[in-house]
Amino acid sequence: MTLCLRWIDHLSPGYALAVALRRDILRKPLGLEFTEAQLASESASFHLTAWAEEVLLGSLLLTPREGGSIQMRQVAVDDRQQGLGIGRHMVAEAEAEAGRQGFTRMVLHARDSAVGFYLKLGYSPVGDEFIEVGIKHLEMQKQL
Ligand SMILES: CC(C)(COP(=O)(O)OP(=O)(O)OC[C@H]1O[C@@H](n2cnc3c(N)ncnc32)[C@H](O)[C@@H]1OP(=O)(O)O)[C@@H](O)C(=O)NCCC(=O)NCCS
Repeated sequence: MTLCLRWIDHLSPGYALAVALRRDILRKPLGLEFTEAQLASESASFHLTAWAEEVLLGSLLLTPREGGSIQMRQVAVDDRQQGLGIGRHMVAEAEAEAGRQGFTRMVLHARDSAVGFYLKLGYSPVGDEFIEVGIKHLEMQKQL
């Protein structure tokens, strides 16, 4: 499989597919839906997508924060394609792009079930567990 990573615009056709993927992978299992306000606010984020032969396999967002930080959010890989390295490739490209733009720290809120993934990619836990979207999360970060 040849993986192609692409930065896309908010509200582009690729963005609509990415929202559908994120809804399936991240929201539906929790019985949640995106609100119009949440999706509108994503205009302030950078959108990375992963494709194989024009089929969308993964997506993530980067949202600038204060003090040189940028937050990686909504990291999702199609559930039939997980464990094949797609998440690792997307995170590497997100870190590279954030560095090119002058950000010095990547931060994120990791779901309990995904903490092991981020540990493998060099992220360190910060502080105590907290609840977000109804499930346990841990803040994690990495210097870029
Ligand atoms: C978590 C997720 C983004 C990882 O992407 P992926 O493409 O499946 O992961 P990769 O294949 O790139 O894995 C990279 C490494 O992390 C490991 N890994 C992947 N998911 C893991 C997990 N949930 N827990 C522990 N380790 C994990 C892999 O085994 C691999 O290790 P290796 O290099 O030693 O073989 C993806 O599985 C996913 O979308 N999960 C559901 C949604 C989710 O939880 N998103 C994160 C929200 S914070």
